[in-house]
Amino acid sequence: MAKMTLDKILQKQGFGTRKECQQRILNGDVSMAGTVVEDYELFMEPDGLEFTVNGEPWRYREHVYLLLNKPPDVECSRKPSHHPGVLSLLPRSFDLRDVQPVGRLDFDTTGMLLMSDDGAFIHAQSSPKRHVPKTYVATTHDPVTEELVAKLLKGVKLDREPAPLAAQACRQIDSHRIEIVLDQGKYHQVKRMLVAAGGHCDALSRTAIGRLQLDSFNLKEGQWCYLEPEHLALLAPVS
Ligand code: URA
Repeated sequence: MAKMTLDKILQKQGFGTRKECQQRILNGDVSMAGTVVEDYELFMEPDGLEFTVNGEPWRYREHVYLLLNKPPDVECSRKPSHHPGVLSLLPRSFDLRDVQPVGRLDFDTTGMLLMSDDGAFIHAQSSPKRHVPKTYVATTHDPVTEELVAKLLKGVKLDREPAPLAAQACRQIDSHRIEIVLDQGKYHQVKRMLVAAGGHCDALSRTAIGRLQLDSFNLKEGQWCYLEPEHLALLAPVS
């Protein structure tokens, strides 16, 4: 990657306008290897550069790929209307570098949400042509029956969908929970499929996308982490 001045590096990472970044550097907010750096014209190779801003460690990343364990009552929108938005759970620098959710979860759905500032990645992941299975755990209002699971596997007709939609896999977990795997992402799909199969969804959580499993990250609700290339590889469709 081409070398850049330190103020530009900070700007690209979402620490404010060029002027604001220069001021932060002059204020002594930025350190490298334990030493405050006050020269904002310092010309450096950004890739992998490690620095701290107000004591918080950062590494330069061209793009960020994040996994958030979404809590309930948070909207997957950059302009939320009734609840706080998911961006409010991340450092402000991610908002400034235009990090966005990859697809949507309902405000009351919890679990695995990918976020990124890489437009090509967001586009590719959200494409309806991309059939990556998404795994959900749904808590049902009434006890789960074999018939409910069988209907979800066979396919149910939803309003405004030309053909019945079937779960790729579905199994009962316990008296009131099923695990359901879908390879499409239609609006409110799990909740609508449950209703169409004669049930009702009381709570919903996404536990995996492709082979990327939320529980391998040890994130409490509201916590996030970076996804590295080896994690992103698990999102690829399996041929
Ligand atoms: N299906 C739903 O009904 N809601 C979600 O948030 C995700 C899938």
